Amino acid sequence: MNKVRKILVTSALPYANGSIHLGHLMEHIQTDIWVRYQRLTGNQCIYVCADDAHGTATMLNADELGISAEDLISAVHKEHIQDFQDFHISHDNFHSTHSEENKHFSYLIYRKLKEAGQIGEHDINQLYDPEKGMFLADRFVTGNCPQCNAADQYGDNCDACGATYSAMDLGEPTSRISGVTPEVRQSKHLFFKLSEHTDFLNKWTRSGTLQAAVTNKLSEWLDQGLQDWDISRDAPYFGFEIPDEPGKYFYVWLDAPIGYMASFKNYCDNHTDITFDDFWKPDSTCEVHHFIGKDIVNFHALFWPAMLTVAGFRTPTSVHVHGFATINGEKMSKSKGTFINARTYLNELSPTYLRYYFAARLSNSIEDLDINLDDFVQRVNSDLVGKLVNIASRCAGFINKQFDGKLTRQVQCDLLASFSNQQQQIAANYESGEFSKAMRSIMALADMANQFIAEEKPWILIKDPSTKDRAQQVCSDGLNLFRMLMIYLKPVLPDLAQKAEQFLNCGELQWSDLSHQLTDHRINTFEPLLKRIEPRSIEAIIETGKSDETSAQGATTSRYEASAAVEIDIDTFAQVDLRIARIIQAQVVEGADKLLQLTLDLGDHHRTVFSGIKSAYTAEQLENKLTVVVANLKARKMKFGISEGMVLAAGPGAKEIFLISPDSGAEPGMKVT
Ligand code: 2FM
Ligand code: ZN
Repeated sequence: MNKVRKILVTSALPYANGSIHLGHLMEHIQTDIWVRYQRLTGNQCIYVCADDAHGTATMLNADELGISAEDLISAVHKEHIQDFQDFHISHDNFHSTHSEENKHFSYLIYRKLKEAGQIGEHDINQLYDPEKGMFLADRFVTGNCPQCNAADQYGDNCDACGATYSAMDLGEPTSRISGVTPEVRQSKHLFFKLSEHTDFLNKWTRSGTLQAAVTNKLSEWLDQGLQDWDISRDAPYFGFEIPDEPGKYFYVWLDAPIGYMASFKNYCDNHTDITFDDFWKPDSTCEVHHFIGKDIVNFHALFWPAMLTVAGFRTPTSVHVHGFATINGEKMSKSKGTFINARTYLNELSPTYLRYYFAARLSNSIEDLDINLDDFVQRVNSDLVGKLVNIASRCAGFINKQFDGKLTRQVQCDLLASFSNQQQQIAANYESGEFSKAMRSIMALADMANQFIAEEKPWILIKDPSTKDRAQQVCSDGLNLFRMLMIYLKPVLPDLAQKAEQFLNCGELQWSDLSHQLTDHRINTFEPLLKRIEPRSIEAIIETGKSDETSAQGATTSRYEASAAVEIDIDTFAQVDLRIARIIQAQVVEGADKLLQLTLDLGDHHRTVFSGIKSAYTAEQLENKLTVVVANLKARKMKFGISEGMVLAAGPGAKEIFLISPDSGAEPGMKVT
């Protein structure tokens, strides 16, 4: 028996200001496959995650929705947990960085850094929004690129020419929050003295904890010389206030990785058989593995190990880095409908398909992974339905109907031994994250099993009494081959494996079950396991994707639809002033894909409102219609003008938007109660 490994695994913590999308799912499915493989082979593997709750974006989104940041993150937390569960992601705990445990560890680590003389401070100049009363992070300022003069560029880099710069160098800067011109102000910031850890990091990043490509990238940065890391932000900020530094908060990225520990601590507090210190003490023999995207390597492979070491904790065993997910060869795009949210996908398709597709494409490299939607349909239909499930459906019917569910006393097929012989190789590919290689080997075995059945033709053998026994043998062997394939695929397809366990009547399959077969055994009735993907499901996903809320990670001030999850009381509802309005004019807005400019008559005055209903209505169709307007919505400065309210409409988007329109008899200006 191999020694049982004790392993703690994490995926990057999704921001609490947007929905889970295919990018998150790629990472969580990758992690989950690895975790489930570890558990299947008998290791103790605990998988934790959390919402990354802090930062300016959360604060602004909550402001815009008129709810507290706490209410926003709690609604998002519920949604995220549900999404992950529905994709069969087996987190043992999904916590939040806005938690007591995280505050405790953030303070503890900060105190240790300070005691070790690792916190410095100096004044820095930054853009400040005088109307909103806050400093502006780079993503919250736009202006003209200092290099090529392209308009409307963010404060850190230019989309047009690729230049990187400081927000203070932008021409005609504008605050994305209030629309005013920001001013330069000075304030004190706290820094972690990262540069003092260069020697340690030179060694650590080359110690086998990272993929070679990641080590190489990091050594470029290390060679250029490390800068100290700014870990404070000024109020107003949603986060933890820094001890003895009133009005200063930990930068969201300081407490985010600490959130891994916090979630694990929360788990340990509810599971007495696991001890936090066993995993995090400096000489721990347990393992800690982080799965992350290549854009956040600096946080995990530089700042994090340096901080952990100073604070007296162990460093990660391994950081597994993946590339970005692209769709049909391009970045996920809202206008193309390829910015696909978890729920949009789930409304049309089973998670099993996506889990398999990612497994079939993932390797241990940091190259981007393209989800080609035609390839997705073709591969899933061919591998899962055409090959895998086909084996079971060809064999089980005969066993159920002709042999009273009984498998033969012995197995005979030589293939069973070849299947079992592949286990070291497949295990090694799971362990090293080379899932696509594992899937290729497994599907090659499925091909052999199908070939065996095709050659033996049990549907012919069954007809002749002299060969009927042979039919039972072929089908019993076929089901045993199928069972071995399901063991191999169980980390990827837990749902299918469970259905297989049910009809094979074989209990929970483990990796060690590869060493024996089901003989003289009664199976249950076979139920169809999986259907083909219909291309129209993909079309429906894309169509809905076009109208889904975007949740570009971390960089958004876009409104988060907290949907039905946030409850409000009747008094809060009563604050919404809903009025009848007549649309007296509707106009196309030059340069806007979705918007129509509406002039509304509210009885005693007129108003202008921009409404995203152009995909469903022409201007002519709207003119003279009655509708309902939120009359006391704060006016919003949009790119095309000021919107003074919002008209109500329902529906998922695109062509399916339905303006709410009262019966005739309602008059402009009437209050809606
Ligand atoms: O990039 C992101 O989405 C971050 N929210 C990831 C945080 S990972 C960890 F450090 F918390
Ligand atoms: Zn430029």
